[in-house]
Amino acid sequence: MAVRSLQLAAAFLCIFNAGSFPLDPQTAQPATCGYESCHATRPDMLNVHLVPHTHDDVGWLKTVDQYYYGDRNDIQHAGVQYILDSVVDQLLKNPDRRFIYVETAFFYRWWKQQSSSMQQTVKQLVNEGRLEFVNGGWCMSDEATTHYSAVIDQMTMGLRFLNDTFGPCGRPRVAWHIDPFGHAREHASMFAQMGFDGFFFGRLDYQDRARRRTMREQELLWRASDSLAPPVADLFTGILPNGYNPPPGFCWDQSCDDPPIRDDPDLEDYNVDDVVQRFLAIANSQALVYKTNHIIMTMGSDFQYENANLWYKNLDKLIHYVNAQQADIGTVNVLYSTPSCYLQELHRANLTWALKTDDFFPYADSAHDLWTGYFTSRPALKRYERISNSNLQTCNQLEVLGGPGSRQGPFGKGDSQTMKKAMAVAQHHDAVSGTEKQHVADDYARRLADGWRHCQVLVSNSLAALSGSSAERLYCDNLNISVCPLTEASKQFSVNVYNPLARPVTWPVRLPVNGTSYVVSDAKGKSVECQVVPVSAATREVRKNRGFAVNELVFQVQAPPLGFTTYSVSLLQDGPPPASTRHRTPTAIQNKFLRVTFDPDTGLLSSLSNLETKQTIKLTQNFFWYNASDGNNSLSNQPSGAYIFRPNSSTPFIISRTARTESVQTAALQEVRQSFAPWASQVVRLYSDSRALELEWTVGPLPIQDDLGKEVITRIDTSIKTSEYFYTDSNGREVLQRKKDFRPTWILWQSEPIAGNYYPINSRAFIKDDVDQLTVVTDRSQGGGSIKNGSLEIMLHRRLLYDDVRGVAEPLNETSSIFPEGLVVRGRLLLSLDRPPSAADAHRPLAQEVVLQPLLTFTDGALPPNTRLEFSGLQAALPPAVHLLTLTQWDEDSVLLRLEHQFQSWESKLNSQPVTVNLQKLFSTLELLGVSELNLSANQWKDEMRRFHWTPQTGEQPPLKKFQDASVWEVTLRPMEIRTFLLRVSLRQS
Ligand SMILES: *[C@@H]1O[C@H](CO)[C@@H](O)[C@H](O)[C@H]1NC(C)=O
Ligand SMILES: *[C@@H]1O[C@H](CO)[C@@H](O)[C@H](O)[C@H]1NC(C)=O
Ligand SMILES: [Zn+2]
Repeated sequence: MAVRSLQLAAAFLCIFNAGSFPLDPQTAQPATCGYESCHATRPDMLNVHLVPHTHDDVGWLKTVDQYYYGDRNDIQHAGVQYILDSVVDQLLKNPDRRFIYVETAFFYRWWKQQSSSMQQTVKQLVNEGRLEFVNGGWCMSDEATTHYSAVIDQMTMGLRFLNDTFGPCGRPRVAWHIDPFGHAREHASMFAQMGFDGFFFGRLDYQDRARRRTMREQELLWRASDSLAPPVADLFTGILPNGYNPPPGFCWDQSCDDPPIRDDPDLEDYNVDDVVQRFLAIANSQALVYKTNHIIMTMGSDFQYENANLWYKNLDKLIHYVNAQQADIGTVNVLYSTPSCYLQELHRANLTWALKTDDFFPYADSAHDLWTGYFTSRPALKRYERISNSNLQTCNQLEVLGGPGSRQGPFGKGDSQTMKKAMAVAQHHDAVSGTEKQHVADDYARRLADGWRHCQVLVSNSLAALSGSSAERLYCDNLNISVCPLTEASKQFSVNVYNPLARPVTWPVRLPVNGTSYVVSDAKGKSVECQVVPVSAATREVRKNRGFAVNELVFQVQAPPLGFTTYSVSLLQDGPPPASTRHRTPTAIQNKFLRVTFDPDTGLLSSLSNLETKQTIKLTQNFFWYNASDGNNSLSNQPSGAYIFRPNSSTPFIISRTARTESVQTAALQEVRQSFAPWASQVVRLYSDSRALELEWTVGPLPIQDDLGKEVITRIDTSIKTSEYFYTDSNGREVLQRKKDFRPTWILWQSEPIAGNYYPINSRAFIKDDVDQLTVVTDRSQGGGSIKNGSLEIMLHRRLLYDDVRGVAEPLNETSSIFPEGLVVRGRLLLSLDRPPSAADAHRPLAQEVVLQPLLTFTDGALPPNTRLEFSGLQAALPPAVHLLTLTQWDEDSVLLRLEHQFQSWESKLNSQPVTVNLQKLFSTLELLGVSELNLSANQWKDEMRRFHWTPQTGEQPPLKKFQDASVWEVTLRPMEIRTFLLRVSLRQS
């Protein structure tokens, strides 16, 4: 007890000092953060690392603002500002105490509101390792439905704030994804390249967990790339013992009911012995399923520590009494710790670790509870997030290319920061995942729209600077449903096409118009082929009264790399009439690359041929729906919901065996419009220059009058002999092989034959045999599977009537003011048929074109005579293997550049080779004054990056290959490598 009162006296001094005076010079020691600030451990004992933490969702049941301020506590009691206030206060009371903080989106807000003396105090805590940041991104991203480009951006933003604010002591050493619902290999690869020493998470398949417990493989080495030379993408990975919660009986938050430690022996209900006994029992049993004499306990949970005194007061006592009772014969040592301190001990143990090369999808928490529904939940938000990423990259690039005038120019003040934050928030594991409440989903969308408005001003300013014309530019964000007031009304207008890719693209443009005939000419004044076609019934239906065009003007644009070109469009008075539609199914449509045939009786697709490679497959495609389980089921009462996919039967219902069709066949485009039901239609479309077949689907409102929840899929059945394999991308990057009813690391007991075979598809999936590969490129993240040989199904839309009891407490039943009867969703799949050895040469660039699509802006009337109609920010297109991933302003005179090799080492004869790029010969308008290389998240200089080395059980010691560039400017990229550079630049006057 004496020890204890001494500690309290010291703590009292601390509070006094921290108030309004600078810190006592005696306590203000030189920074000892990071691994050096860890408490000592006992090599002869079992060391229990208590990690006080809070899990603060960047939006879920409440919006990110409501969570920050603690608003709407009637929905959920949670207020992040109070958590941070309270934790800092409590940390000051006892220097032994530790806390980790994760979500920079919240910390950043709180920091801005603190006085400078409070900021000093917090800096001191960070410098002493008492407050430690882990993960450190703007949010804790979802892993199934996010695209790597947006994940890298959101991590960069959070980690930059931490470095700018705290320097090296603010740099997180571990990645921490305690809540995401399954784990992507590409995330692990990115975390390794961001310099993290290790990674911890909480959720994995219950069967996998059981096996790993017995084998003591809950800590492992994840080799997260099959292309990058080890250990570049090796990430030590730890699975937390109890999700991210405290052990049962030890939750001392104000939101918990566990008994506090009552340590007055004079009182009736003294319980110290009981608490210590229970704790030792838990610790000893936990130690049985881990490898070392160190174990970790997460002392916290969702939005806990709002009144941190409760937690810390009891933790202080727990540590004191457990260690005191053990003083003589002790076997267990308890300490305040952090994930990095725990990781350091695992590293010191110098063991070998099980090697894992696949991923942690899908995630099931019991036999009938597969978290594979959220791969598709809220398909409209998922598409909006993806297109927002494209728009943000364009905004970033134009901020650099247009110079300072893009932020302040003829159209006012614009910025990319608002959009960056909105996109970062949208990566959260309850945002783009679709697992938030409806009002929160609306808030994410509103943020993206607001961000885009800020970017539009910037883009207009930048294009004005680059083109020399300040004519007003209009944006048409609803072209997918043929709505654009300007093109609908104007007799003469111009279209500026900005291409964010570093190679030229050809892209089909469809504009809503009311005339019947137009001339379209390119930047050189040459007229280009165009076609007017009638707007389809499905489009009129979905746009409602938001637009009135009767026709669409269709033409192909060709845009230069990282630049724009301009097309002018004029109405022709006495031109030819628009194409007419025919009400008969054509036997085939084709262009010079592809031919597709239809079954005249059903109106469905019947085959697909690649005319260049002379290959043909049988292919039919139709729409089906699974009847969502309502929870009334003999096997389990789990319903389908926002997270979980649980069809009532493994046989989906067909919406219609036949399609009513009409067709339009012209030189510029061929399309067959299929209608399956008032709520399901599709256009099968081939543009004259396209190597991919487009399937534009429109699904909704899903009928629920029959009280059945519906999960709609499109299914493609082919003659390809797939032998139960299919392939999906991980976060839009490396491809993973999937096999039906199979997991690479354990013997699967398959209890959900459909949902248990679903995987996330971020940008593409394919099926193949020795001669044919069919690749499907998606325009957003979706779930899908290959249930039968030769077949690939993709879930497009879901409408459910029950909550799935994972916390969101709402059925996924989306309506809006425009669609009170249920959301209608439209999207596209692109199909490409290739020979397997060279298929990646086709689908990699195809997927990139959908991820980063051209931005169209419109100007009414004729452009002023001296307008510059064409511009490229590059001296020349980048080689096909190289993707320009990031170009964004960093500060006044520097820009951040990421170049990426976009092929895996095995997938292309042509492109899976190292490529060298000369940075000085890259940009046409930027003079490079200096270059430094950074880690992937741009918060550490590459040459200062040191990571823990871990040895896999295979015993192999990968040779640490050091590659040398030819010069500082000539950088070589190897398959799947991303390199991040900070360039000091000045704008060349052009
Ligand atoms: C780790 O183990 C290896 C082999 O078991 C041994 O050679 C090496 O010296 C050990 N390293 C340390 C730091 O103990
Ligand atoms: C991190 O911040 C420090 C101090 O603010 C700065 O000097 C350093 O360059 C930053 N590091 C990186 C990689 O930006
Ligand atoms: Zn969460």
